[in-house]
Amino acid sequence: MQTSNAVLSGRVALVTGGGRGIGRGVALGLARAGARVAVLARTVPELAATVAIVHEHGGRALALPADVDDPGALRVALAVVVATFGPVEILVNNAAVVWPLGPSAEVDPDEWTAALSVNVAAAARLSFMVLPSMLDASWGRIVNVSSGIAANPTAMLRANAYATTKAALEAHTRNLAAELAGTGVTVNVFRPGSVDTAMQTWIRAQDPARIGAELHTRFVASHRDGKLLTPEQSATSLVQRLAGHETGEVWDATDAEV
Ligand SMILES: NC(=O)c1ccc[n+]([C@@H]2O[C@H](COP(=O)([O-])OP(=O)(O)OC[C@H]3O[C@@H](n4cnc5c(N)ncnc54)[C@H](OP(=O)(O)O)[C@@H]3O)[C@@H](O)[C@H]2O)c1
Repeated sequence: MQTSNAVLSGRVALVTGGGRGIGRGVALGLARAGARVAVLARTVPELAATVAIVHEHGGRALALPADVDDPGALRVALAVVVATFGPVEILVNNAAVVWPLGPSAEVDPDEWTAALSVNVAAAARLSFMVLPSMLDASWGRIVNVSSGIAANPTAMLRANAYATTKAALEAHTRNLAAELAGTGVTVNVFRPGSVDTAMQTWIRAQDPARIGAELHTRFVASHRDGKLLTPEQSATSLVQRLAGHETGEVWDATDAEV
């Protein structure tokens, strides 16, 4: 568990998907480190719960109900953060979807494209929106939450959209990091490990005949056998690396001491 951190304390952070799961863990970790945290997602009660936990512990947090796939909603949300806390200094692009799962010949191409939009385009858009103020300040931290599937694209068959989007997100991250080298703005990938969240629950609830018995059995077994990290364990390894200057790196929660 982090405590107040000299580099992060007082910073303004925005965590997408901060209503539950890993995003909530990151938001709570940042708040513990002393940052003021805005959490963005669609489900208002989940955002409210994250904000309430931060407030209970004496921190400052703000709920931003918005769809990351709606550019107008992102503009409004950012304006609210700037007006309330000031310009975003730490951005964690965590919101993502694992759907569509299933045989690629049966996947709705519109759903595949929608996943690309949420998992990649929205993250890039948000980064581009916060970059001008980060560059003006010569300090910024952008973290894009990926998955181990980017290193091993065949690890989840019938998850073509997910594999594609996380690989694209990592390429985007490393390219942007190289472009921004020396500016004070770092851009890194975070692979959170296998984490006990609603996303994993949703995968276990899918029909094994559709997503494939092997994939389904693997997800059921890792939950049953207690192999999943808690969101807090995973998030701790992200937050503790934010104060550093490294950029263009892949941070893997399973490499860290969590
Ligand atoms: N759990 C794992 O084992 C695991 C492993 C590898 C990578 N990851 C990655 O870790 C990140 C978090 O996953 P998780 O397991 O914590 O998932 P989760 O429990 O499903 O949470 C996902 C979060 O993203 C938000 N979100 C999804 N679509 C959104 C949209 N269109 N607009 C705004 N917010 C949206 C959700 O909020 P709303 O639905 O309320 O909008 C929710 O807060 C993802 O990038 C995921 O790919 C997870």
